Parts: sequence; C-alpha cells; structure tokens
Amino acid sequence: MTETLDIKITKTKHSRLNETDFNNLQFGRTFSDHMFVADYEDGEWKNFNIVPYGEIGFSPAISALHYGQAFFEGLKAYKHADGQVSVFRPDKNARRFNKSAERLCMPELPEEIFVQSIAAVVDMDRDWIPSKPNHSLYIRPFMFATDPYLGVQPSATYKYIVLIGPVGPYFSKTLRVKVETNFTRAAEGGFGYAKAAGNYGGGMLPAKKAAEEGFDQLIWTDAKDHAYIEEMGSANVMFFLDGKLITPSTRDTILDGVTRDTVLTLAREWGVPVEERRVSIAEIIEGAKNGKLTDAFGAGTAATIAQVGSISYNGEEYFLSDPKEREFSQKVLKALDGIRYGNLPDTHGWNYMV
Ligand code: COI
Repeated sequence: MTETLDIKITKTKHSRLNETDFNNLQFGRTFSDHMFVADYEDGEWKNFNIVPYGEIGFSPAISALHYGQAFFEGLKAYKHADGQVSVFRPDKNARRFNKSAERLCMPELPEEIFVQSIAAVVDMDRDWIPSKPNHSLYIRPFMFATDPYLGVQPSATYKYIVLIGPVGPYFSKTLRVKVETNFTRAAEGGFGYAKAAGNYGGGMLPAKKAAEEGFDQLIWTDAKDHAYIEEMGSANVMFFLDGKLITPSTRDTILDGVTRDTVLTLAREWGVPVEERRVSIAEIIEGAKNGKLTDAFGAGTAATIAQVGSISYNGEEYFLSDPKEREFSQKVLKALDGIRYGNLPDTHGWNYMV
C-alpha cells in the first residue's frame, strides 16, 4: 500500500441504522449511511469524499446513460466473531475493475484507491455489517462516464462511487435452471469478461422469459454453436462430473470470478481433480442422465455457492441429487464461510482487515 488517500468526510446528520430491519434484508435494497465518491477530471482522480448516501445530480446527456460507459464490481465485508471486520480479496476485484475499465475505454483506477476507498467507507459504517450467519456487507464500487455530450466517443470525465449495504443470502433455495440456447450473453471479441452494466441489461429479457417458465436462473451458452456452457445467470458455474470439478475456462466471454478462483484454489489444495476447459452441454446432460453429474452450483460474490437442483435443456428437466448430500459444494461453502468469517485460518491472506 502506498500513501493514505486524503478523504474528506461529511457525516450524516441522521443515521438510518436503528430504523433498518436487519431481519428482512433484500439484496441490494438497503444502503448504509455513507458512500464514497471520487471524480476523474483533467486526466486524474480527485475529490475523494465520503458523504451521506443519497441522490446525486448529473446532466441527462451524460454518456453513461446513452452509450453505456459504465461498469461495476461486487465484493463483501464480513464481521468476525471477535468483532473484527474483513473484506474478501479486494485486490482481485481491483484488478478486474481495471480490466473492465480498459475494455470500455475508461480510465484505470489505481489499486490503492480502490482498496482504500472501500476500507474507508466500510470502516465508517462498520456498525452496518450484520453479524447473523450467512449475512454480510455487500460492496458495490462502480464507475460511469459523466461528459454531457452526445457524440459517440470516450468521455473525458467519470465518477467512481462505492455503495455498501447489509445483505442476507441472495438465493433462498436450490435453483431450477434452464440452459439458454437462443439468446446470447456474450460473443467472442465482445466484452463478456468485463462487468459492464450493458451485459446485465442484455440478460434481463432472457432471464424474464425463463422466470415466466418457472426457472430461477439461466445457464448461458456460447454465441456460435450454443453447445458449450459459459456462465450461470450472474455467477460462474461449476460441475462435479465423474469425480472431477469442471468449470468453463475463462475467455473473453466469461467473467474471471473471484469466488470461482477461490473455489478452484481450495479444490486443488484438497487434491480434487480440477478441469478448467470448454464444457459441452452434451456431457453435462449425459452426466445428469447416467448419474455421473453429482454436483452443480453457481459461484459468485452475491450468489456465494448456489446449488442447482435441476437443469432443463430442450424442454427436458434433469434432476440432480439431494443438495444436502452433496459432498463438494457443502464442503467448499463451509470452508469459504470459515475463512471469510474468521473461523478458519486465512492461509492465503484473502481477508483484508479493516
Ligand atoms: C456479484 O456477485 O457481485 C454480482 O456481480 C452479481 C450481481 C449482478 C448481483
């Protein structure tokens, strides 16, 4: 870490902490008292501020709204039993933040600004971090273009904001998923690997159609042949097939997930055979039929480890084994939680203490 960021702090006059119902937290609806805001102007990041969470003003012509120069990250802070607070692997998110920035022709944010801005606002609102099991503080850093100009060109000015808010589990049940073979999330040469806002907007219609058919999530397939599996909804997807942990290898259509990397690292340490490669729909459906597919789950910051109950493909639904009996996803979720909540040794230095 280099020098400490010079942050101007304006405290809220009225904390909403005591009015917040921590027993009914819907993901993404509750925000803490403060947020971090910075501006990019004249080729540099400046105006580092922590201010009360609230509305901000901008021109209706800003290019983020018209041309989609906007992207985000998602990470979490956890409260340990002894009251200490950690953020999970913020350095990894910082690096991915800059990959997204580069692809969308937006300015990079030095890693220390990313990490220190998060640490500062989390520290400020640390009383907002829930201590209940499976609860945490979701952190949403994002950047968007602010030039009030309708010409199609990269903006010269940007805002970087960090919002935080307490969350419970993102999914409350085992997922019924559908393999999507008509719509496409990302194509080669595109920006599927970036956490671009537009990637999520484009996924909404297919997800809505699937929800109307009773599905909780989609499994995205490759744009060319719709024969290979890419991601699941807004998480990476993993399978336990024939005794091996299998997941699509990262490429320009797939997000390089932090939870994905964490799961793969733990699995390798446990001596589990791991394969990062192209994963065909055919082999997964075959495994579901012959019983060799013993586990399937989404891996993501919001989703954590989200077990798949059934997979539908071409109108046929294939049911997987009882999620409670699944050795790998249960074990990895326990290990992940153990490390993040400070109940297991953090041998990799993944917890950034605030
Ligand atoms: C995250 O896991 O942080 C995500 O980006 C998913 C989000 C779109 C809900």
